[in-house]
Amino acid sequence: MGTTHDERKLMLSPATDPTDKSLELLFVSPVIPVVVIDDVEAAVPLARALVAGGIRIIEVTLRTAAGLPAIRRIAEAVPEIRVGAGTVTDVGLLDAVVESGAQFVVTPGSPSELIDAILDRGLPLLAGAGTLTEMMTLTARGHRALKFFPAEQSGGAGFLKAVAGPLPGAIFCPTGGITPANARGYLAMPNVGCVGGSWLSPPALLTAGDWPAITVLARQAAELRS
Ligand code: 3PG
Repeated sequence: MGTTHDERKLMLSPATDPTDKSLELLFVSPVIPVVVIDDVEAAVPLARALVAGGIRIIEVTLRTAAGLPAIRRIAEAVPEIRVGAGTVTDVGLLDAVVESGAQFVVTPGSPSELIDAILDRGLPLLAGAGTLTEMMTLTARGHRALKFFPAEQSGGAGFLKAVAGPLPGAIFCPTGGITPANARGYLAMPNVGCVGGSWLSPPALLTAGDWPAITVLARQAAELRS
């Protein structure tokens, strides 16, 4: 019998784990929506639509100019959701990320100067890793909460199953190519806390402002954790 996510959550030891705030991010919701916002006006209704469906965490990517202002608006107006900055690749943006009110940071990879600068600012972090060496480097530094990216392209669930032996302490958020169809398989794995994906915020629904449709997608995602 495998352990449930709640049981695994209880097994985490925040008192002794310096990265506990990062680890906790993996157990907020089964899916972390990865969103690209072009129009800042969409930010708050999108966050509210996700919350209405039961999703309590959102990663707003810094791939568009609207990313940081969107984080600020969500942090101010939607306290029910945990908002983080994603696609963080530039140390030079970190002060603005902190100032925006972002509650966590997600990186696609893990260059040490970027990781150090994020930790210096005290931000919980999901550090990206796609290879065993990157994962070993991060776990050796005490990071247990890792974003496995790009998951499907890097070996998928079979890869994560294989790394569970050598890296027993690492817990992953696989992201990249995750769909409602393959999410359950990942979520059933003992070294997966949640998955990440962009399918909850399709550009067509954002452009149309179809928030009820996003709530439906969010509800389906929230129910993925059995
Ligand atoms: C990410 O940056 O995390 C990915 O773009 C999300 O991948 P997906 O679009 O395949 O869900």
